[in-house]
Amino acid sequence: MKDARPTRITLRRPDDWHLHLRDGAMLDAVAPESARHFGRAIIMPNLVPPVVTAQQAAAYRDRIRAALPEGSRFTPLMTLYLTEDTDPEDVRQAHRDGIATAVKLYPAGATTNSASGVRDFDRVRPVLETMAEIGMPLCVHGEVTDGTVDIFDREAVFIDRVLKPLRRKVPDLRVVMEHVTTADAVDYVRDSPRNLAATITTHHLIINRNHILAGGIKPHYYCLPVAKRERHRVALVQAAVSGDPRFFLGTDSAPHSDPAKLQPCGCAGIFTAPNTMSCLAEVFEAAGRLNHLEAFASLNGPRFYKLPVNDDTITLVKGAPVTYPERIETGDGPVTVFDPGFALHWRVED
Ligand code: NCD
Ligand code: ZN
Repeated sequence: MKDARPTRITLRRPDDWHLHLRDGAMLDAVAPESARHFGRAIIMPNLVPPVVTAQQAAAYRDRIRAALPEGSRFTPLMTLYLTEDTDPEDVRQAHRDGIATAVKLYPAGATTNSASGVRDFDRVRPVLETMAEIGMPLCVHGEVTDGTVDIFDREAVFIDRVLKPLRRKVPDLRVVMEHVTTADAVDYVRDSPRNLAATITTHHLIINRNHILAGGIKPHYYCLPVAKRERHRVALVQAAVSGDPRFFLGTDSAPHSDPAKLQPCGCAGIFTAPNTMSCLAEVFEAAGRLNHLEAFASLNGPRFYKLPVNDDTITLVKGAPVTYPERIETGDGPVTVFDPGFALHWRVED
């Protein structure tokens, strides 16, 4: 009998709704890796110093454009880093002028370069109310930073302690819970009105906490929020492959040089920009839901952000295992590419 499983699939060009491109020599090396397959990306503002004002976002956007290959149509969608001093009028103007697509909320101290984040949520309320009024989404790093809360519980506790009260106070705010890692977050998003959505990373669909810790510590699988138990990974896969419009791809591709990761106190972040589409095709195929890959990677994100889908397509072809470089060289040192731990058979056709 003939095998009816597809060996080619064409999708609208995907977007990445959560991406770290860094700056300087690192930006030059990693921007082309995202521009190869993705049409647009929501660019994280956690530089040092962070991208706080419209003016800083416009300047960073220029640096990103300068790092793209000649002729690239990749569009960086900029975010503003929310601080307790953020001016609501600057945010309003950045949105009106098309400079900033969203605002990013980091609880102070939650992750890499988040020292300027928010401690007192009442102090940012005027900004959030302005955003609700103009329909500008808030991207949220959903982890509490309370040292007494176990690191594996920080996302679930954030939902109860911060996100629920915040959404009660500003109910019309459009919120993206970013890089969700738990069944708790998946359930919360599913049970909420349509102005709440979630991004899911490539790596959280593939690894659980054993991959980081069992049989020796694997710094290249360490990111924040940290991967949780297997049952949570399974819930993330179910959400991603379901086609539910509230779940979409945000790779959280977060390059750090190998020397910065391979330390007694190494950086959090996994670099998935080069091989994300191959990895996702494997995950969706294994779940029997290759037909929903386009919704997750290309359709649901623009729908939530109220942007058109990309006007061109990419084609994934299944064949002999495709290889990606183990690491890429950058002016800031080598950066290791995510190893999914299984062979990748789907490649993006040139
Ligand atoms: C990100 C980084 O390195 O900037 N790291 C990570 O593990 N995801 C920060 C972040 O998004 O949390
Ligand atoms: Zn991130």
